[in-house]
Amino acid sequence: MKNIASSFTLPNGSVLKNRIAKSAMSENFGTRNQAPSKGLINAYKVWAKGNPGLLITGNVMVDSMALGEARNVVVEDYKDFELLKKWARSVEGTGVHLWPQINHPGRQAFAAINRETVGPSAISLSLGSASKMFKIPIALSDEAIWDIIKRFGNTARIMKEAGFTGCQIHGAHGYLVSQFLSPNSNIRTDQWGGSLSNRARFVLEVYREIRRQVGPDYPIAIKINSADFQRGGFTEEESMEVIRFLGNEGIDLIEISGGTYERPAMIQGDRKKSTISREAYFLDYIEKARKLIKTPLLLTGGFRSVSVMEKALEGGNLDVVGLARPFCLYPNLANQIFDGSVERFETPIPQIGIKFLDKLGGVELPWYELQIQRIGKGKSPKTNLLAILAFWFSLKSLFFKSFWKNK
Ligand SMILES: Cc1cc2nc3c(=O)[nH]c(=O)nc-3n(C[C@H](O)[C@H](O)[C@H](O)COP(=O)(O)O)c2cc1C
Repeated sequence: MKNIASSFTLPNGSVLKNRIAKSAMSENFGTRNQAPSKGLINAYKVWAKGNPGLLITGNVMVDSMALGEARNVVVEDYKDFELLKKWARSVEGTGVHLWPQINHPGRQAFAAINRETVGPSAISLSLGSASKMFKIPIALSDEAIWDIIKRFGNTARIMKEAGFTGCQIHGAHGYLVSQFLSPNSNIRTDQWGGSLSNRARFVLEVYREIRRQVGPDYPIAIKINSADFQRGGFTEEESMEVIRFLGNEGIDLIEISGGTYERPAMIQGDRKKSTISREAYFLDYIEKARKLIKTPLLLTGGFRSVSVMEKALEGGNLDVVGLARPFCLYPNLANQIFDGSVERFETPIPQIGIKFLDKLGGVELPWYELQIQRIGKGKSPKTNLLAILAFWFSLKSLFFKSFWKNK
């Protein structure tokens, strides 16, 4: 128990009070105008009382014209600053760090809720019949790329001013940063495409711009794929190179994950039973990464048993354990680990039997989002919540948002 409960000091001096982090989960729980809702802020109050070292918010978008989900929070100016301050104060008095995850969806933006879609290159998502839900992206101009880079810095600075204690770049799961990294979605022939150092230019410039806007001592993390798990995609060797670049730049914490919408390795329903029972999906990668860089490492994906978390930490390759789905059903999770009342955090795989939707996480993700919304509304999570309700919730939110997108 000593290891998981012990504090961890980041190189910049920020202290996480223990080794447990809530990884980012899109709550889809903002207001219709993309501001943090009362319920969203309340969910963070509940989680903070649960006592983890770090809470990373669901992805906060940098541009209201580029949404991943209908109810994403967007921070591009000061219009919701008072609500952002309230959100930052949700952890007040607990010593828990609260960091927003900052994101741009690029081509992973539903056509129903976005007027236009952009990406590094005009290559559409390859999702079989589900591809119709997404437009072919418009390849970004050099000027538009720099605009998005500035937006990442702008969002991070506003959130810092509101009181958030660090931030994370979403560089994983096939969103814009990860699209630039992958030769499958980036076939540019200018300084942003081609060689790995060109494909990595976008993420490095995003990091530098955030650093410029938040100052030298503020924690900046990144979530990055260990690989895309797709033929011709971003490989493990390339991922290792990129974390080395980021480590050299002085990034404070690197979180490892994997997958994209096309190959959703972050969805439980897409995994083999043996992998699920092994837990800690990307542990092999972390072992190699530790030899390469000194930057603190956070590993997320599959952790369910306290003994597995402890063992991973004891191995010495990993500094912080990240969990996502368990936080939706066990909001008091860290306390339950410390008092020994729970050894294993079970997380069901809700499905409705429509193969492409189940594989894409079209039911699983909204089912967990609904659990977050229950927490925010002061209710207990409900493990027997009907999967079909989650599917309906997700359709409904896309449908309603589609009426507002052209305003
Ligand atoms: C409802 C839901 C929403 C998610 N949203 C995000 C997100 O906004 N950003 C992100 O980096 N990962 C997101 N993820 C992925 C998780 O952070 C995590 O990487 C993944 O669920 C594996 O961890 P777990 O096995 O502990 O759930 C989401 C996962 C779920 C279940």
